[in-house]
Amino acid sequence: MENKFASKFIVLDGPDGCGKSTQAELLTAWLEQHNVDVVTFRDPGTTAIGEKIRQILLNPEHHAMDTRTELSLYMAARAQLWAEKIAPALKDNKCVVLDRWLSSTCAYQGYAGQFGMDKVIAIATDSLERPWPDITVILDIDLQTASTRLNQQLDRMEQKGDNYHQKVRDGFLALAEKRDDFTVVNAADDIQTVHENVMKAVENI
Ligand code: TMP
Repeated sequence: MENKFASKFIVLDGPDGCGKSTQAELLTAWLEQHNVDVVTFRDPGTTAIGEKIRQILLNPEHHAMDTRTELSLYMAARAQLWAEKIAPALKDNKCVVLDRWLSSTCAYQGYAGQFGMDKVIAIATDSLERPWPDITVILDIDLQTASTRLNQQLDRMEQKGDNYHQKVRDGFLALAEKRDDFTVVNAADDIQTVHENVMKAVENI
């Protein structure tokens, strides 16, 4: 088990309210119980630069922000996260669990924001040292269930409305169809069931 997960890069992703932060914590705890040396990061964020970029992205005052600006800022935060945290951890044989990654830019800016998923992937291929993780687990959830899990104070991305967020969900599912390193888990189930399905997906690494 320890060896199997050495230098593995695992991403949990999905629509707002899918519960991925909770599932990332549970997955990390499970890996630690099996003596896996694991670190968990969030994208955008984690680094000092990334957390500042995150604040700019999520501030509701920035409602004028264009999709291309979003795309560039998410990619910039991710490049920094890779350089400062992920690459050194993988080099150190650690298992890295990420709360969101490129799959989010594909679903949000690429699909819902209509920039185009293929164009997002092309930009990521040029600007990131490694665009794709070893495995991506998409926590799929319907809009109604997801809305019950959000904080009352919505950030700028969460405020984009039902039509946008339905497209985000469709975008994640469309991307998962195209990639055989993606697994979709039903995140509307209870926390423990979702955790068990995430473990199963990750065990296939
Ligand atoms: P979080 O609150 O789940 O950490 O994610 C921050 C918000 O940013 C969330 O609404 C999803 C959005 N997002 C994008 O639109 N594109 C991206 O590339 C990423 C990583 C997140």
